[in-house]
Amino acid sequence: MRKEVISAKDVKLSYGNFEALHGINLNFREKELTALIGPSGCGKSTFLRCLNRMNDDIENTTITGEILFDGQDIYSPKMDLVELRKDVGMVFQQPTPFPFSVYNNIAYGLRLAGVKDKDLIDQRVEESLKQAAIWNDVKDNLDRNAQAFSGGQQQRICIARALAVRPKVVLLDEPTSALDPISSSEIEETLLELKQSYTFIMVTHNLQQASRISDRTAFFMNGDLIEAGPTEQMFIAPDKQITSDYLNGRFG
Ligand SMILES: Nc1ncnc2c1ncn2[C@@H]1O[C@H](COP(=O)(O)OP(=O)(O)OP(=O)(O)O)[C@@H](O)[C@H]1O
Ligand SMILES: [Mg+2]
Repeated sequence: MRKEVISAKDVKLSYGNFEALHGINLNFREKELTALIGPSGCGKSTFLRCLNRMNDDIENTTITGEILFDGQDIYSPKMDLVELRKDVGMVFQQPTPFPFSVYNNIAYGLRLAGVKDKDLIDQRVEESLKQAAIWNDVKDNLDRNAQAFSGGQQQRICIARALAVRPKVVLLDEPTSALDPISSSEIEETLLELKQSYTFIMVTHNLQQASRISDRTAFFMNGDLIEAGPTEQMFIAPDKQITSDYLNGRFG
């Protein structure tokens, strides 16, 4: 069995006095793609943000429970946030390249991590853009503003940016829902390729997408994890009736 990279134990999160997560227990294994699915508002993005402490940036949140990354408690006061977000990167629904050149977008995280060696940065920029399958589109335009590319291209640039610091885990929050079908399927292909080297945790509303590319699926509802397991098994024979109803489009 693959090694567990992230382990969440009894995670509860409240915004003010609204409890959005009611005690989530879920583990993620190395070099697998886990899909988080469930109706709108069930807490998928909230849970995803807990995994690299992006919720720290939202006022008035309280979190309890424990999240271990590589065996370390990420909510411990000793945790170095820059380090954590280098190891656990993130890609959002709307492509969010910074308003500067493609090159500088990819180099950004490396420079933040203190890398100064120009050759190393050049090499990583090229390698990451290749991994995200966008190198051919941008190699002659590395100086062009990253926001001056198509949505699908921008999303690949964001994936390359996340990969540049060699994270262990990449969190993706509906990474293809703002894209056209062709760009979406290209990104799916890329993720399938990349999961040999990285661990992905991806929120998606697209059940076909979850069944095509995820190894495991976790189904959330109203702030609870209803069930989690191997994707094929869950799509063929889920444990719970409610999961089956959701997967069959009876609500949600
Ligand atoms: N910053 C916030 N402040 C207060 N409540 C929030 C905040 N962000 C989310 N919530 C609430 O927490 C609950 C879970 O929201 P969350 O965004 O995690 O759901 P989701 O499953 O990602 O939904 P969607 O599929 O629509 O993106 C919702 O009731 C939402 O209104
Ligand atoms: Mg969401």
